[in-house]
Amino acid sequence: MKKDLATNHARLVATGFLVAALLAGGCAPSAPKQTIGQSAEAGRRIFLEICSTCHGKQGLGAFGPALIGENATLEKFLSAQRLFDYISIAMPLEAPGTLKRDEYLQVLSYLLVQNGFADAESPFDPDQLEQYPLKK
Ligand code: HEC
Repeated sequence: MKKDLATNHARLVATGFLVAALLAGGCAPSAPKQTIGQSAEAGRRIFLEICSTCHGKQGLGAFGPALIGENATLEKFLSAQRLFDYISIAMPLEAPGTLKRDEYLQVLSYLLVQNGFADAESPFDPDQLEQYPLKK
C-alpha cells in the first residue's frame, strides 16, 4: 500500500515535469506572453548592477540624471520605442551598446513600470514598443 502511494506520487511528479517542460518549451502557439512586470523584474537586477552606479540605486539621479521619481523627465522621449533607442545606443555611458537586446528591453520595462508609464500586469510585446506612450 505504502509502496503504491510512492509509485503514484512518482508518477504524478513525472507528469508534472512533463507538463512543465511542454509549457516551457512553448509548443503551444497561444502561450501567454510575459507581462511587463516580469520583464521589469529582470530589468531591476540589470539596473542595480549597471545603471545604478551613475543614476543612483533608486534611479533618483547621481552623476547621471534621475530616471525614476519626480525629477525624472523621460516623457520627452514620447514613446517606449524612442526611450529604447536612446538607452540601447547611448547607455551605459562608458560602454554604449554593450548589453544584449533582451537586457535593454528588460531595463526599459523596469523604467516603464517604475515611472507608472505601464501597468505591470499588461502583456509585454517587444515588437510593439510604439504602443507604449510615455504618459502617466
Ligand atoms: C557611467 C555613468 C552612467 C551609466 C553606467 C549609465 N548612465 Fe545613463 N546617463 C548618464 C549620464 C551622464 C546621462 C546624461 C547624458 C546627457 O545628458 O547627454 C545619462 C542619461 C541617461 C538617460 C536619459 C535621461 C534624460 O532624462 O535625458 C537614460 C534614459 C539613461 N541614461 C539610462 C541609462 C540606463 C538604462 C543605464 C544602464 C543600462 C545607464 N543609463 C547607465 C550616465 C550613465
